[in-house]
Amino acid sequence: MGHDTPIEPPGGPRSARPQRVFMLGGTGTIGQATVRALRDRGHEVTCFVRPRAGPHGSLHPATIGQLLPGVALRFGDPADATSLARDGLRGERFDALVSCLASRTGAPRDAWAIDHAAHAAALGLAAQAGVRHMVLLSAICVQKPLLAFQQAKLAFERELVDSGIAYSIVRPTAFFKSLSGQVARVRRGKPFLVFGDGTLTACKPIHDADLADYLADCLDDPARRNRVLPIGGPGPAITPREQGECLFRLLGRAPRFRQMPVGLLDGVIATLALGARLLPALADKAEFARIGRYYATESMLVLDPRTGRYDAEATPSTGSRTLPDFYAALLAGADAPERGEHAVFREAGRRARPYDEAP
Ligand SMILES: NC(=O)c1ccc[n+]([C@@H]2O[C@H](COP(=O)([O-])OP(=O)(O)OC[C@H]3O[C@@H](n4cnc5c(N)ncnc54)[C@H](OP(=O)(O)O)[C@@H]3O)[C@@H](O)[C@H]2O)c1
Repeated sequence: MGHDTPIEPPGGPRSARPQRVFMLGGTGTIGQATVRALRDRGHEVTCFVRPRAGPHGSLHPATIGQLLPGVALRFGDPADATSLARDGLRGERFDALVSCLASRTGAPRDAWAIDHAAHAAALGLAAQAGVRHMVLLSAICVQKPLLAFQQAKLAFERELVDSGIAYSIVRPTAFFKSLSGQVARVRRGKPFLVFGDGTLTACKPIHDADLADYLADCLDDPARRNRVLPIGGPGPAITPREQGECLFRLLGRAPRFRQMPVGLLDGVIATLALGARLLPALADKAEFARIGRYYATESMLVLDPRTGRYDAEATPSTGSRTLPDFYAALLAGADAPERGEHAVFREAGRRARPYDEAP
């Protein structure tokens, strides 16, 4: 199974010590950007991906090759240890394992299978393949792990820390794509939806490419080794209300908000949890509603364990790209990012995904 595409000469900021990198999750949003950042630094990147990748299996091998030029592509099942060894690592030696692998749904079973078990298997096999450093894309929300996918991620983080392999565990705040769900509706003249008054939470959003640079630089920066690294984008923390105000400002319109009570989500969760007793399939949907509630009420900032408060000042920043610039580009006609399935009210009975904003 699988074939290698030719390695093209890289063209970005060079690493002083190019490495042989085994990459998981290279077809995801951050994964694609990270593959590019690694390649541009001169690393020799081997991506192990599914032959039908992307949202709903929409990417085929040829399309994946076009998306990820200049790296070796190997096809198989990253969630299966046998395939990982046989089709992925193939008995070869690698210097580093970089993973942007993550459940696309956040459903408990999928999260434990991917965010935890697939990573645990990959780590064990990678160690046998000579890997001495793993860079892991995690999430800032695991600092308050109330949801199954957060617990699965945290369980693997602990295994990595205890593994004896050097680690860089990167916990980003919110991605731009997760904060862009209302651009189209606001442009159509609808109000911006917020929970409460729109100031219940805040985050320091980070652009895919800035996060990818940060992840790739973990391979070269000794200060990012054996560290858990919360990271946000540039500028001050921003609330949902400020996101809406920014959009209206860019459109030259007066801000219009529709406020929704968080209790609405509690009602949805309680109904689905009750229904799940009769119909087990509803259990995942209840979890998706819990995910929505979490992001409606918890900030994506460093949590101060002493005070139990989120702290924007303590949340490090990287990169240069800002959310207002991203919104401006979207309003000017740039392609909307693929955001998976989202929107708690519309999607409460369907799939949700970690981090997508609720309304
Ligand atoms: N959205 C946010 O605001 C935010 C903020 C902070 C942290 N995070 C975290 O960032 C991480 C990644 O985000 P992302 O948006 O880049 O993810 P994404 O676009 O959904 O990509 C997920 C990657 O994992 C792979 N994957 C998922 N299920 C798989 C399976 N069963 N078998 C094999 N591969 C599988 C996907 O491969 P396929 O293409 O084959 O499906 C894809 O390469 C998540 O852990 C999330 O919690 C998100």
